[in-house]
Amino acid sequence: MPNQNERIVNSNTSSKSSVPTILIVDDESDILELLELTLARMGLEVERAMNISDAKHMLELHHFSLCLTDMRLPDGEGLELVQHIVKYCVDLPVAVITAHGTTENAVAALKAGAFDYLAKPVSLKQLRSLVKSALNLPPLKSKVSSGIEDEEYALLGESPPMLQLRSMVEKLSRSQAPIYISGESGSGKELAARSIHAKSARHGKPFVPVNCGAIPENLMESEFFGYKKGAFTGADVERGGFFQAADGGTLFLDEVADLPLTMQVKLLRAIQEKRVRKLGSTQEENVDVRIISATHQKLTERIEDGRFRQDLYYRLNVIELKMPALREMKDDISLLANAILARLCEASGRIKCNLRKSSLEALIQYDFPGNVRELENILERTLALCSDVEIGQDGLQLESFEASPPDVVVAQPATSSIALPLQDYLDRLEKESIVEALEKTKYKRTAAAKLLGITVRSMRYRIERLGLNDE
Ligand SMILES: Nc1ncnc2c1ncn2[C@@H]1O[C@H](COP(=O)(O)OP(=O)(O)OP(=O)(O)O)[C@@H](O)[C@H]1O
Ligand SMILES: [Mg+2]
Repeated sequence: MPNQNERIVNSNTSSKSSVPTILIVDDESDILELLELTLARMGLEVERAMNISDAKHMLELHHFSLCLTDMRLPDGEGLELVQHIVKYCVDLPVAVITAHGTTENAVAALKAGAFDYLAKPVSLKQLRSLVKSALNLPPLKSKVSSGIEDEEYALLGESPPMLQLRSMVEKLSRSQAPIYISGESGSGKELAARSIHAKSARHGKPFVPVNCGAIPENLMESEFFGYKKGAFTGADVERGGFFQAADGGTLFLDEVADLPLTMQVKLLRAIQEKRVRKLGSTQEENVDVRIISATHQKLTERIEDGRFRQDLYYRLNVIELKMPALREMKDDISLLANAILARLCEASGRIKCNLRKSSLEALIQYDFPGNVRELENILERTLALCSDVEIGQDGLQLESFEASPPDVVVAQPATSSIALPLQDYLDRLEKESIVEALEKTKYKRTAAAKLLGITVRSMRYRIERLGLNDE
């Protein structure tokens, strides 16, 4: 039973007009009563409708802060009401209540723009956290942000693909739907995930990024779900996993294609049930986590190969966000380059430098296989090697990037590259060791991994990260 502390509106201090009102739409009076009681205990006003047409009528007459609707109603599907609200009441979050086990309905509602869903039998704890999140949503901005404004995770750019992307980000940040972010390496997938979280009702709660390719398979379950004391040797204390850490916030599953199949099954269950079980525990606990996943790989191909479960894919990919490649936004290169340069100069405490027209033109001509991250690397290297205030085309040394794409760089001795930014230098060392180990073992990855003292998984991840796959 909820206690007084869970009231989100205090009836002693707030006037009736400032109390958020929730519209609940259901044709079963016992569910209506349960919902109404719970919401009233949270200090909220409730209005009821028993069918779609009454609900539409009430939406015209009153201002609501949230609409909760059943999926099956006497005069149609709840989905119709979702579509109506998305179209005519853009600022109103709508959540659906789905029959137990009908996940397709939930997915369809989220795709149509529902804020979230609750499965029957409705868990009151989940209901309360859904309502709190919905009421916590910042008001919808009338204009999509320019990206230039001082946001912490701003996706910069004014080209049509970037404008479209930002408007999607704005919309998606107002829903709890799982998002699947696809796009080439360095195209801003993680930045987009952080931006969605930062704009969402969950922004006060953690954003937990997880690199699915970097966790050893035998530790995956305990890392994701936590463990009880004594669950295995070395488990001296009880610990929560990523899900518990992200409770109330966002779990970002990066490189999700790298999840082993056994883990995929467990993840699917956790997402569907919104519950997890710690390793060594007999009890499940509720978790309220929004999942955003990303990969630069083609997940559909991995499904065809049998390396990724289709059911999990459908669960993760409720809404897909495609990051444009930098070469598709040539008009933005100048804006991005200047913004990155200004940031780098400020961070290193040096006076602001500019790119000459010729350097900008060279950058615009360049193909950027590594996208914005590559642009950042080029500019970082330029600043490290050139002290001029006006950076000319020579300072950029683009030819060396073009002449030596990631897989060719390996051929140069590491000692000559000490002037590179640290990450590039370390990457080069790592590449050299891997290539050497592969050559010594006649390109047998297992043997090469052994030689380097790393797991095959970690080896595969590094090969992919360093772009050595084509060798
Ligand atoms: N539109 C953008 N505006 C500003 N910075 C950007 C933009 N896109 C990417 N970046 C920057 O480029 C770098 C790479 O972005 P991010 O790490 O999000 O890429 P990614 O798609 O996750 O890459 P990977 O596939 O390699 O993991 C980051 O420093 C990020 O801040
Ligand atoms: Mg990333």
